[in-house]
Amino acid sequence: MADAIKGLVAVDTGVDSHSVQSALAQVPGLELVGVISGLEESWRTLQETRPELLMVACAGYSDRALYFIDSAVKQEPERPVVVFATGSPNGFIRRVFESGAEDFLTLPEDPDRIRFALEKAIARRLGAAVASGIALAPMICVLGPKGGTGKTLVSTNLAVALAAAGGKPVLVDLDLQFGDVGLALGIRPDKTIYDLARSAGTLDTEKLDAYLMKHSSGARILLAPTRPDQASAVTVDLLRDVFSTLRAMSDSVIVDTPPGFTPEVIAAIDSCTDVCLVGMVDSLSLKNTKLGLETLELMGFDPTRISLVLNRADTRVGITREDVDLIIGRAPEIFIPSDRQIPISINDGVPIVLHEERSEAGRAFRALARLYSDETPTAPEPTNVSPNGSKKGAPKRRFAWRS
Ligand SMILES: Nc1ncnc2c1ncn2[C@@H]1O[C@H](COP(=O)(O)OP(=O)(O)OP(=O)(O)O)[C@@H](O)[C@H]1O
Ligand SMILES: [Mg+2]
Repeated sequence: MADAIKGLVAVDTGVDSHSVQSALAQVPGLELVGVISGLEESWRTLQETRPELLMVACAGYSDRALYFIDSAVKQEPERPVVVFATGSPNGFIRRVFESGAEDFLTLPEDPDRIRFALEKAIARRLGAAVASGIALAPMICVLGPKGGTGKTLVSTNLAVALAAAGGKPVLVDLDLQFGDVGLALGIRPDKTIYDLARSAGTLDTEKLDAYLMKHSSGARILLAPTRPDQASAVTVDLLRDVFSTLRAMSDSVIVDTPPGFTPEVIAAIDSCTDVCLVGMVDSLSLKNTKLGLETLELMGFDPTRISLVLNRADTRVGITREDVDLIIGRAPEIFIPSDRQIPISINDGVPIVLHEERSEAGRAFRALARLYSDETPTAPEPTNVSPNGSKKGAPKRRFAWRS
């Protein structure tokens, strides 16, 4: 971006505006139209100057700053807001992103990195405006109330299928004690969420990016700790911040979960926009899937944001698809067959959607990815997607909303 970025800085009480000014004066290509002390005064200047970028500097948790950001975003949704803080108490980053800010940086920061973050914020906001005002990416929580139903199979293949279709997904392994996403994707756990939890300093997009492992498909992965005893270092507060930050730096976030409604799973459900519930064809698993749906309903989760995947759908145990619909109370959208290539692909560390591209399972995962992507396939592949998948309530076209 060759032209100077015209930015206004609103400085909250408790922050020295001179130090903010001198930190930002060194940022190449940033033209400050004002560094204003006090948010009320800043609001007035904002109306008069109409900068292309708004920066808000605060000392730590500040409800005033959150209200200010929220009002500024509502007033002009296309103008990016970047927040600088000298500290970030638990939960603040999440609130900042929820208020509509584009990025969060902790001062002091290298001037070139600030410039990069500001350019990124502007580019992203412009792109988002074109794509009908997306602020935060959708987050899909892959759930299965019981162990071994195929959650990891589904989440890894979904992430890779989204990346193969040109998306920029991030997959989080939330099975903090026994996560095996790394194994399923053939990724060495050089960095995990445990290292992130143990790291010093506050969380922002640049820092979080350094803890994501890259898969050859283009998907980025936040791996689970390598040992069960490390799980306790990962707090629910950190997870909430991680989820909001990831939603601001990707175009979809997929979360693989452990069995059951553990505190971290509940935090993920609270933060997510969609649930993908994975069940299998036997009466116990179907009962648990039904219970899972009821629990989500009790939690106030919108049922139209839940997609249902039936794994090992062709297993012959005397239960027909009609029985499945009756037991669960709705029809699954996606059916994954049993396929002996699946355990082979897991052992090879190559998801079936890449391992056996033309398999029925591969097609089913691409169909699942299409439920969560904007792209309408030009020529739909023959797949085992339920004919009921298009009924009212089925999840569709998830990427075009502002959360
Ligand atoms: N459709 C399938 N065909 C063949 N094997 C399958 C299929 N689905 C799952 N499996 C096998 O079942 C095992 C369990 O699957 P997966 O790890 O995805 O379940 P999970 O729900 O993540 O389990 P956990 O609750 O322990 O995390 C896998 O190792 C895989 O080999
Ligand atoms: Mg698993």
